[in-house]
Amino acid sequence: MSVDSLLQTPAPLAGPLTLIHGKDEAPGWWRSAVIYQVYPRSFRDLNGDGIGDIAGITAELPQLADLDVDAVWLSPFYRSPQRDAGYDVSDYCDVDPLFGTLTDFDVMIAEANRLHLRVIVDLVPNHCSDQHVAFQAALAATPGSPERDMFIFRDGSGASGEEPPNNWASHFGGPAWTRIMEPDGTPGQWYLHLFDSSQPDFNWDNQGVHEEFERVLRFWLDRGVSGFRVDVAHALVKAPGLPDWGGRADGGSSDGYPGHEAPMFGQPALHAIYRKWRQILESYGPDRILCAEANVDPLPRLADWVRQDEMHQAFNFPYLHAGLDVHRLRGVITDSLLTLDAVGAPSTWVLSNHDVVRHASRFGYNGPGPRDGDGIGVWDHQPDEALGRRRAAAASMFMLGLPGGAYLYQGEELGLPDGIDIPDGQRQDPTFARTGGARLGRDGCRVPLPWSAEEPHNGFGNGQEPWLPQPESFKQLARDAQAASPTSHLNLYRRMLSTRRELRLGAGSLSWLERYCTGSSLAYLNGSTLVVMNLNHEPLDLPAGRVLLRSGSATPASDQPVADLGHRLGSNETVWMKINFEDAES
Ligand code: NOJ
Ligand code: CA
Repeated sequence: MSVDSLLQTPAPLAGPLTLIHGKDEAPGWWRSAVIYQVYPRSFRDLNGDGIGDIAGITAELPQLADLDVDAVWLSPFYRSPQRDAGYDVSDYCDVDPLFGTLTDFDVMIAEANRLHLRVIVDLVPNHCSDQHVAFQAALAATPGSPERDMFIFRDGSGASGEEPPNNWASHFGGPAWTRIMEPDGTPGQWYLHLFDSSQPDFNWDNQGVHEEFERVLRFWLDRGVSGFRVDVAHALVKAPGLPDWGGRADGGSSDGYPGHEAPMFGQPALHAIYRKWRQILESYGPDRILCAEANVDPLPRLADWVRQDEMHQAFNFPYLHAGLDVHRLRGVITDSLLTLDAVGAPSTWVLSNHDVVRHASRFGYNGPGPRDGDGIGVWDHQPDEALGRRRAAAASMFMLGLPGGAYLYQGEELGLPDGIDIPDGQRQDPTFARTGGARLGRDGCRVPLPWSAEEPHNGFGNGQEPWLPQPESFKQLARDAQAASPTSHLNLYRRMLSTRRELRLGAGSLSWLERYCTGSSLAYLNGSTLVVMNLNHEPLDLPAGRVLLRSGSATPASDQPVADLGHRLGSNETVWMKINFEDAES
């Protein structure tokens, strides 16, 4: 790979180019991979109990192979009381009966292998469920015991320990500490939980915790997984003494990023843990990967996570948070490529996941939309669905042209919006209960997928009602309805992914084409492919060249039929073009 920092090159194409990143020649499938996130509860319900299952994933893997993704990442399916949709694990080495059995898992891996799809699983090392045997043992033991030392127990403050040990808050609202009853029935110590009170944090100063997770890694590697997405990878180690924190008490900040110096995030001792894990993965060969869910800012700090002997990838949350702000997008892309290139790591790009409002809904607002993790309710200002889907197609096409890896969230290939009309009693995200309903939480982006317009529950399952209600629009957005329509969102995704693979865009280069980087448009060259995104309300004249794909073909703007535009790019539209350099110069 050759990356030389910002470089002005002579104008080959109607104006100056700014080279940011050269072609990526390094080996490693993940460097340019498209990884599709499966949220098992909501993917496909084969046994009809209203909740997705592993057999349902196996049944639909051919659809994902057909979409032409490289790998799937599965959110947790481990044994769990499901207080945080499986991110509260009570047994890391078993499948929850809700989703199936270990045999179902093995069958799924075999099918994935047959289809040349890799499978990545979610590892949740910061906390477990309060039903985990280790935590139950800690509750039954005494203060200062080895069992308690697996977790973060402290005496309370105040005259009789009636106040929490420090001022940290839970990400889901309320304090990050809960007081227990000691086995003798008296009020006792407090334990730390950065998330729900049913999710006690492990004590990563204890070697026993390290050994336990090394065992878990090997368990799934032995079963054939290609790697792990590591949940809240920035939070495992806490600052010595657990000092009060003067910033937002859950360590976050108003722009959605963790406070840089927060004592519960980004501690230096984390890196030794990931180096050890990398060695374990490499003992299984060069193809197994670690991806950090590390909400770290600024970007140079994220680069520390993906040094050659640490993780392979980290999610690029600054990219997700940049939305459709062209200045922020350009800044994040430039900074990501430059800082990650400096440590030899590829960037990743992402627009949606199970924790944020889907981008088809976020982009349906002119002006500020919902805050992360807050969801949209029936009484809120509503997004414009058609506009949101059109912009989502434009944003996805812009993202999928970028060099590096990309993460897709199930259903974004269908242009699905968030579920909005969800009765309070059906909301399951702990954020909703812990904030007394003030924050709706993340259920809206977790609504079960529509597979087939004419089947019960849009083909999610043909038994009980899905665990969350599907919006009306899911019928027309069902996969089979879209598969039959050449101009659908789904078929646009198929064409984007196959063209991306054919042109090797993920391993390509990036130069900004200055002439099209305006206050409302952005353009880059990746090899000889030009990507232009127009967020203006006016069409944009395109340079000479051959149009490969345009996002507006899936969702035409009502006043601008695609065919009439010719070499003009519609409002809220992205195009991929092959540039004929000689024509362009003249
Ligand atoms: C991040 C996960 O993506 C989210 O869904 C979960 O609630 C928290 N980590 C806690 O595990
Ligand atoms: Ca089921």
